[in-house]
Amino acid sequence: MTECTFIIIGATGDLSKRMLLPAIYKLVANGKLENFAIVGAALSESTATEILERAKPFLKDIDKNIWQRLVERTVYQQLDVTNFEEFQTLKNVIKTIEQQFNLKNRLVYCATAAYFFCNITENLGKSGILQRTKEKPWHRIVYEKPFGHDLASAHKINTCITRYVDENQVFRIDHYLTKELVANIALLRFTNIIFEPLWNNAYIDQVHITLSETLGLEGRGRYYDKYGVLKDVIQNHALQLLALTAMEPPQQLTGDYIRERKAEILKKIIPDDGILGQYSGYNNEKDILPDSQTATFTLLRLFVDTPRWKGVPFYIKAGKRLDKKLTSITIKFREIYCPLEEGQDCPCNYLTIQISPHPSFCLELNIKPLGIAQNVHPVKMDFSYLNSFGPKTPAAYEILLEQIIQGEQAVSVRSDEIEYAWDVIERIEKMKLPFYTYEQKSNGPKEMETFLNKYQTRWRS
Ligand code: BG6
Repeated sequence: MTECTFIIIGATGDLSKRMLLPAIYKLVANGKLENFAIVGAALSESTATEILERAKPFLKDIDKNIWQRLVERTVYQQLDVTNFEEFQTLKNVIKTIEQQFNLKNRLVYCATAAYFFCNITENLGKSGILQRTKEKPWHRIVYEKPFGHDLASAHKINTCITRYVDENQVFRIDHYLTKELVANIALLRFTNIIFEPLWNNAYIDQVHITLSETLGLEGRGRYYDKYGVLKDVIQNHALQLLALTAMEPPQQLTGDYIRERKAEILKKIIPDDGILGQYSGYNNEKDILPDSQTATFTLLRLFVDTPRWKGVPFYIKAGKRLDKKLTSITIKFREIYCPLEEGQDCPCNYLTIQISPHPSFCLELNIKPLGIAQNVHPVKMDFSYLNSFGPKTPAAYEILLEQIIQGEQAVSVRSDEIEYAWDVIERIEKMKLPFYTYEQKSNGPKEMETFLNKYQTRWRS
């Protein structure tokens, strides 16, 4: 039987109402969780009814019976995470509800700022709420991103974690790892003989990774102004995409085998060049300092120092308030000797993995157009998830919680991966990259073209 008590620390916050409580509802509604309870905890005074009601607008077509089960099985406990005594009270609350519903497994979700992760872990460990348990009953802990704000802070949290729990109990979340197409990168590479033999510097010319967003700060100005694009999406999402694209074949396509391979790549990344940007009007946004130099855009050129990738540039472009929402990875294959008449070119082949908004693969091949002419015409072979599997894909946090309950650590980033990635960010920061402004709804700063021309490349996404 799948059973678990969710202990949400930060239960009055945004993540809890928008993502976690709706995801728990869906797990129950979809029959993926048979027995459960929810213990919400946060600094402010609140009630179980209040935290559940705030999550309601984020659910459609609520089934009254399922909702009633949530109401009956949720409790709220006020908690100052720096106060050990209050964890003793929390422990009693957890034990009572566990006894009432015959529950044993515990999943603690830290939906708070990373600043509190050490305090929380230490108090959970010392109070015995979180114990080192192998297998059953299991106690697992989840840390929401961002995991620290630099290498030193991430290392401090990791050190604290190892004092109280084993790595197999820990889930450092990157929601990108639950996206269908991200989970598919490794599968596509390693289960298709037409790709894997070509997946190296002899056949791949360069790789373009795009994380373009139309959204701005969404009320998160205070957080964003401290982090900026490098720490907000490059340190985690973009470098994870790069690592999955570049990693050596894992022994199996699961948890630690994949994490080991990703860590090997993250350790070998060499930042080479790049530019930064800020959208015009950023300084007028709520909670942003008037003279803020926080970057909301970047275009980076990186190398991976392994025999497979020697000489292949990986470009990453990411930014807010751009012209479109698009997350994709494009692999440009090398030019082929063109056996046609002189003066004819054979365009390169491209493979594009679109993660969002339309999960799909697209392979560009050359064909002969109709008629007798001897020239080539590039065509796209598309595979779209929507067309093949329909629109019903579960939301990221539902998959995330389901995987954590199953103990699948592929959705979680290992301690060394996190630290290598922070190290890459610190090296980029030291490069003092040029900083430009760009118009909102554009594709980035104008200087981007000069940068790409310098490397004789055009952006492909
Ligand atoms: C989050 C960042 O991790 O990822 C946000 O904090 C960003 O700033 C978001 O908007 C992008 O995620 P997605 O799933 O919309 O591509």
